[in-house]
Amino acid sequence: MVKAKASRNLKICCGVTVILIVMVFIILALTLFKPKNPEITVHPQGLENIGFDLRVSNVSTINSTVAMVVTVNNRNYGSFNFKNATGFINYRGDVVAMVPIQQSLVPPRREFNISTAADFTVERLIMNTTFWADVLSGSVNFSADATLHGKVTMFNVFKFHASAHSSCDISIFVLTRNIQSICKTKIKL
Ligand SMILES: *[C@@H]1O[C@H](CO)[C@@H](O)[C@H](O)[C@H]1NC(C)=O
Ligand SMILES: *[C@@H]1O[C@H](CO)[C@@H](O)[C@H](O)[C@H]1NC(C)=O
Ligand SMILES: *[C@@H]1O[C@H](CO)[C@@H](O)[C@H](O)[C@H]1NC(C)=O
Ligand SMILES: *[C@@H]1O[C@H](CO)[C@@H](O)[C@H](O)[C@H]1NC(C)=O
Ligand SMILES: *[C@@H]1O[C@H](CO)[C@@H](O)[C@H](O)[C@H]1NC(C)=O
Ligand SMILES: *[C@@H]1O[C@H](CO)[C@@H](O)[C@H](O)[C@H]1NC(C)=O
Repeated sequence: MVKAKASRNLKICCGVTVILIVMVFIILALTLFKPKNPEITVHPQGLENIGFDLRVSNVSTINSTVAMVVTVNNRNYGSFNFKNATGFINYRGDVVAMVPIQQSLVPPRREFNISTAADFTVERLIMNTTFWADVLSGSVNFSADATLHGKVTMFNVFKFHASAHSSCDISIFVLTRNIQSICKTKIKL
């Protein structure tokens, strides 16, 4: 009789413990370990090479290669391993540059810099009167977008496919040569 009661108590106790553990896991999964959007920002480097100088009328003196640093801030508790990808830079809806992004492993909760270079089709830009009107107005705006396909690995155990789509609004302020880059990223599992 006493034994049966103790065993029942034990069962209840175990049951409650299991439920609590499951709840803790669910809560952790929904909060702490919930996949978070990686933050991606694009920093063009050495922009003076692009030659916004209106006096530059010789196209061949303009360097069309702009070095870029793509920063991926992985806010997840899992690493993000993505494949080679290509980013596109658009000017008013037309693709003016392609940016190769080399496959990388971004460790959990780390910021990771990828160095790359964009090859601008300069001719298309500088032949365009809209572009020069923008330069004269003091700012030129580009948009950039890229999709990174890969895998998120949690604790070296759980692996799932993930893709991160990122789009950025890049404003170049001609006089100050300031660059503003505002990016939005969404991760899909
Ligand atoms: C443009 O620059 C290139 C290289 O610096 C030079 O060879 C060419 O003569 C220049 N063209 C004109 C029209 O100035
Ligand atoms: C053009 O820019 C790239 C990257 O900034 C640089 O490596 C290269 O030497 C430059 N070329 C010229 C001709 O300035
Ligand atoms: C990714 O790109 C790098 C450099 O561009 C190249 O060496 C490598 O073979 C590529 N990997 C795949 C899987 O295509
Ligand atoms: C990545 O590059 C950005 C811009 O160049 C820099 O501010 C940042 O400190 C770099 N981060 C790392 C981890 O190297
Ligand atoms: C300039 O660029 C805009 C946007 O890409 C395009 O609609 C327009 O036709 C271009 N103009 C010329 C003269 O190429
Ligand atoms: C570019 O964007 C900035 C800020 O988003 C805005 O202030 C500026 O007017 C825009 N320039 C052009 C030419 O559209």
